[in-house]
Amino acid sequence: MDLNSLKDTRRLAAMILELVPLNALLILSGPLGAGKTTLTQQLGLELGSKAHISSPSYTLIHEYPTPRGLLVHIDAYRLPSIEALLNLGLEDYLDRARLVVVEWGEELQKHYPEALVLELEFKNNMRRARLLKNGRDLLPGRKNKIEGESKKGKVKRGK
Ligand SMILES: Nc1ncnc2c1ncn2[C@@H]1O[C@H](COP(=O)(O)OP(=O)(O)O)[C@@H](O)[C@H]1O
Ligand SMILES: [Mg+2]
Repeated sequence: MDLNSLKDTRRLAAMILELVPLNALLILSGPLGAGKTTLTQQLGLELGSKAHISSPSYTLIHEYPTPRGLLVHIDAYRLPSIEALLNLGLEDYLDRARLVVVEWGEELQKHYPEALVLELEFKNNMRRARLLKNGRDLLPGRKNKIEGESKKGKVKRGK
């Protein structure tokens, strides 16, 4: 789907929360400035967090308790290796979290084939998103369903 404004990103965040199971890993892929941190902020708002969600570039991991469960936000950009990322205690976070979001976490796919991958494209000032699970796009236009919070794939609109 196209992301022409923050409102679109908010709508995408709502859709993602309908689609991802509990304790899910969401990998955010896309170049600098594509909107990875912004999407995470919108996920936080959708989950009811009142915290200001900022980029965890230096601290690597931020935890945000929300009324709908824990949101964990990781930035793997500065990590030297996939081992370093795995050693952060990802398993423990996944056990506890509604959702673990990892910017620059593509390499995790090898270890977590069930992870959802949000590919954010940023070209000619246009933003576009694809939400992939096992290579299939789950965003509207397709009729895929997965287990989880999804209520027959219905998406809340007009918020
Ligand atoms: N859907 C959108 N529409 C307009 N601007 C956006 C959108 N998503 C992100 N931005 C803007 O793009 C800039 C970079 O976003 P950011 O989330 O920090 O990117 P990343 O984390 O991928 O590097 C920010 O100024 C943000 O406000
Ligand atoms: Mg970022």
